[in-house]
Amino acid sequence: MSFGAELVVALPKGRMMADAYRAFAAAGLELPRARGERDLWHGGGELAVLELRGADVPTYVDLGIADVGVVGRDNLLEAGRDLYEPVDLGFGACRLSLIRRPGDRAPIRRIASKYPNFTKAWLRESGLAADVVKLHGNVELAALVGLADAVVDVVQTGNTLKAAGLVEVEVLARSSARLVVNKSALKLKRNLIRPLIEKLRRVSG
Ligand code: PRP
Repeated sequence: MSFGAELVVALPKGRMMADAYRAFAAAGLELPRARGERDLWHGGGELAVLELRGADVPTYVDLGIADVGVVGRDNLLEAGRDLYEPVDLGFGACRLSLIRRPGDRAPIRRIASKYPNFTKAWLRESGLAADVVKLHGNVELAALVGLADAVVDVVQTGNTLKAAGLVEVEVLARSSARLVVNKSALKLKRNLIRPLIEKLRRVSG
């Protein structure tokens, strides 16, 4: 392994990071901490941590750079990677929802989202046709200024929606943090990873 660590753990920066550290600590594994904001990977020897954008965690785990990772189901649904997903860690609960301007019932022709693959799959399954535009952030704005007739985005507290004056029309999927494991690593490092899965299951149950 290029980091010289026996086990490499990918964690998502942002809202779920602190809970991820807590879950591993509760399972008996104290993960190395960042020394500063730009300390993107830390540790070595037995254990290393990579701090990534949540959307990138599935890629790093699937390609074997990290052995295990913590990531929201929303990012897994979008990434479509073939990962082992053994534990629902319980925190980071949110939903992927269809969002519109209040009272807007016109046919949806264009949807903006950070989750274009998920959105296209939902449209297909629902027998609907609409263009999907990929955006990278502040997606609510797209609905407000008419870039799109609707938005598919994460709703957690609902504060962002409320502030934007938009409404959640339909919940399309529910999400929470998951432990994901690279399938080869599960076989090659089963003595490390199997007990970790069992302990995380116990503390997340
Ligand atoms: C997500 C999402 C919403 C917001 C919803 O963005 O895109 O904007 O959180 O959360 P709430 O219901 O608790 O208000 P995030 O904060 O991850 O930032 P980003 O747009 O930079 O990805």
